[in-house]
Amino acid sequence: MKKPARQCVIALIAALGIGACLPSAVLAEGVRSIRGNEVSATEVAPGNFKPIPDRAPIPRDYVQQPPLIPHKIEGYEISKNFNRCMDCHAWSRYQETGATKVSLTHFKDRDGGELSNISPRRYFCVQCHVPQTDAPPLVSNGFQRADGLR
Ligand code: HEC
Ligand code: HEC
Repeated sequence: MKKPARQCVIALIAALGIGACLPSAVLAEGVRSIRGNEVSATEVAPGNFKPIPDRAPIPRDYVQQPPLIPHKIEGYEISKNFNRCMDCHAWSRYQETGATKVSLTHFKDRDGGELSNISPRRYFCVQCHVPQTDAPPLVSNGFQRADGLR
């Protein structure tokens, strides 16, 4: 990787991230896996893949994994005013909707205090929980589910 130009680093700090610098770097070098395998950029274009059909919960690969979202979430609003996920996953709603209730851990604030509703640090669900598409893995890998979960 080339040394980033100084103004780029400043822009990076200012913009708190990738936005300012990465696209040009990525365009110049093409999309690559961490180990350097070539990946065709057209293969990873969003919109090329269909969301998986709604299904039962997907087995986890390690104990602290945020479970994958086993259903479509297109159009589900998560904003300052409304959290569509909690419409089904809240403790006050899950029995009616058949959804898994949010984890007990999601009520803790950052100091470990227990809240009676979802903690602000867990509010934006898709920071950690991700929906799935029919996209094949970009590169093959030998990842194995944690022993205790096999
Ligand atoms: C209309 C109701 C509804 C909404 C809205 C909804 N879900 Fe779900 N969700 C479900 C149901 C029902 C299941 C369980 C499916 C099953 O058990 O077969 C589920 C399962 C899940 C699971 C898997 C839990 C596990 O133990 O593996 C996750 C994670 C999840 N949803 C996250 C989300 C997120 C994040 C959002 C918002 C973007 C959301 N859901 C919005 C109904 C909903
Ligand atoms: C900071 C990351 C993070 C955020 C944000 C987050 N979760 Fe989770 N979630 C996790 C992790 C990690 C687990 C598994 C370990 C645990 O239970 O804490 C989990 C577990 C769950 C489970 C499974 C509970 C069970 O009993 O098996 C559900 C359902 C869920 N989350 C829904 C949500 C919803 C809905 C939101 C948004 C309101 C959300 N999560 C926000 C990380 C997160």
